[in-house]
Amino acid sequence: MRRKTAQYIREYKWSNIFAMIRNNRKDPELCVDDFKGKIVVITGATSGIGYITARKYASKGANLLAINRNEEKSEKLRREIESEFGVRCDYKIADLSNLKDIFRVSKELVELDAPIDLIIHNAGVYLTKRELTTDGFEKVLVVHYLSSFIMNYLLLDRLKSQKNARIIMVGSEGHRFAAWGLRLDDLNWQKRKYSGLKSYGSAKTAQLLSMIVFADKLKGSGVTINTMHPGAVKTDTGQENGPVYRWFKRNIFDKTLKSPEISAEALYYLGVSKELDGVTGKFFNLTTLEEPAPPALDREVACELWEETLKMTGLKEHKIKD
Ligand SMILES: NC(=O)c1ccc[n+]([C@@H]2O[C@H](COP(=O)([O-])OP(=O)(O)OC[C@H]3O[C@@H](n4cnc5c(N)ncnc54)[C@H](OP(=O)(O)O)[C@@H]3O)[C@@H](O)[C@H]2O)c1
Repeated sequence: MRRKTAQYIREYKWSNIFAMIRNNRKDPELCVDDFKGKIVVITGATSGIGYITARKYASKGANLLAINRNEEKSEKLRREIESEFGVRCDYKIADLSNLKDIFRVSKELVELDAPIDLIIHNAGVYLTKRELTTDGFEKVLVVHYLSSFIMNYLLLDRLKSQKNARIIMVGSEGHRFAAWGLRLDDLNWQKRKYSGLKSYGSAKTAQLLSMIVFADKLKGSGVTINTMHPGAVKTDTGQENGPVYRWFKRNIFDKTLKSPEISAEALYYLGVSKELDGVTGKFFNLTTLEEPAPPALDREVACELWEETLKMTGLKEHKIKD
């Protein structure tokens, strides 16, 4: 596989890095409109950003369909949201690192008998050591990238037929850690030394690349897809890692982080505000439009990754309308 390092180095712009640093200090735009009676699908609503975002949408009248891996936490969430806000909070249990679960839950979404107004792909994991899923894929890639890819792909025709819906993927400025671009010949980290930052950066870059193709396929349909960085906020992320990482997170990193309330406000604005009508294929730092790093803008790699992903997941056999 050819490397594109030289191309990316030429394309890097210092102005984008300075813009990111400036944008990291900004507060999100706020949206005061309600979302009464709308249906919001959100993954990973049992903690951190997903939990606060689910509460935000419920407080504005939206009914929720959460996709979580933990039954007990989901039931607690359902009871809390339904009693506090008087909306519905259904849930489906799925381990989003398991392809069978991802396919099952996607099929269930396709068969829902009410329109889906918004999908927020939020579930995520940060691992310092490489882990393989039961399907033999690197776990961070599956939870961040393959799960949102499969769901979006299988929902394409259904969403298009609705003529109106938004998809938001919770990405990260961390995509910039994949500074040399995606290694399509090693998406599973078999040939290189694994690092948490690099694998996370690659998975978030893959997600941004998939957005390029999804935005093309959704063009003119009334359905939009965007990706956002939710801020550097204090959540439960990284709990799967060892005691040293957890100590540093608790005693050092967490002290510098903001509240996930800003992420929820940004996700509400991006999901509801009329300002975003028709806006698609964009990356936002909270609610500020930003240019991703060059490897995440590479249309040629985006198309190759698309084909590779169809092969990896077995989706190649599943035809969608163009
Ligand atoms: N925190 C930040 O500063 C930051 C910055 C940039 C981007 N992000 C992104 O924000 C998103 C949310 O992260 P967070 O910081 O809120 O972390 P978090 O508190 O750890 O929440 C992650 C959520 O994802 C769920 N999840 C993890 N693995 C899953 C799996 N295999 N199947 C189904 N659900 C799964 C978790 O479920 P459980 O409750 O069962 O664990 C939890 O609900 C992620 O995509 C992350 O990359 C966060």
